[in-house]
Amino acid sequence: MVHKPINFESKGFKATVASYNVFLHLLMGIVVAIPMLYAFSNTSGAIYLHIVLCVPGYQLLMGQSFLGLCPYNTWSADLNTVNKRRVHWVLALMGSVLAIAGSIIVMLYKNVNFNTLHGKLGLVAMVFTVVNLVTGVAALYATPLRRIFIPPSLSKISHILFGMVAFVTASTSLCYGFDKNAFRNWVGAEVTLGVIIFTAAFTIFLCINPLHTTYKRCVTMFK
Ligand code: HEM
Repeated sequence: MVHKPINFESKGFKATVASYNVFLHLLMGIVVAIPMLYAFSNTSGAIYLHIVLCVPGYQLLMGQSFLGLCPYNTWSADLNTVNKRRVHWVLALMGSVLAIAGSIIVMLYKNVNFNTLHGKLGLVAMVFTVVNLVTGVAALYATPLRRIFIPPSLSKISHILFGMVAFVTASTSLCYGFDKNAFRNWVGAEVTLGVIIFTAAFTIFLCINPLHTTYKRCVTMFK
C-alpha cells in the first residue's frame, strides 16, 4: 500500500487542525468555568482565593501560553516567532504567579500540610512551576548562554519538559480537587466524573504539540 504524504496546505488538513483547536478551547472553557462557578457559589476565604487563583493560573493562562506556540492556534497563527515567544512568556509568567499565590494561600491556611493527594500533587506542580520559570529564562537567553557551554536545544527541551510536568501534575491535582466531597455534593457524581474526564482529555490534547516539539528538537540535537 502506498502512503500519500500529508498535504499541510490542503483545505482538509487546515479544517481538521482548526476544529481540533476549537475543541481544545471548548474543553478549556468547561474545565475552568465549572470550578470557578463552584468557587463563586459555594466557597469563601482562603479556599475561594485558592480556586480562583489556581485554576485560571494553570488551566487558563498556562494552557493558553502552550497554545500560543502551536502553529495552527486561532489567535496566534498570524504572529511572527518573536511575538509568539513574547506572548508565551507573558502568559506563562502571569499564570505561574497566580497559581503559586493560590497554592501558598491554601498552604498557609491549613494546619497540617500535604496530607491529601490533591495537596501533594499541587505542591509538586508548584515546585515544577518555579523550576519551569528558571528554565524559561534560560530558553529565552539560549543564544548568549551558548557562550557558557549550555546548548540552546538543551535549555529549550528542559523548559518544555518541566512545563509539561508542571501542567500535568496541576491537572491531576485538579482532578483530585473535583473528587472532594464538597464539590461532588454540589454537582453530583455524574457531572464530577464528566469534568474529570474532560480535564484528562484537555491535558492530553494540550500536550501533543509540546511533545511533538520535544521530539523535533531531540532529532535536531542528535543529528
Ligand atoms: C490546578 C488546580 C489546583 C491546584 C494546583 C491545587 C493545589 C492545592 C495545594 C498545593 C493545596 C495545599 C495542600 C496542603 O498544604 O496540604 C491545596 C489544598 C486544597 N485545595 Fe486545591 N488545588 C487546585 C484546585 C482546587 C479545586 C478546584 C478545589 C475545589 C474543588 C480545591 C480545593 C482544595 C481544598 C479544599 C484544599 C484544602 C484541603 C486539602 O489539602 O486537600 N483545590 N490545593
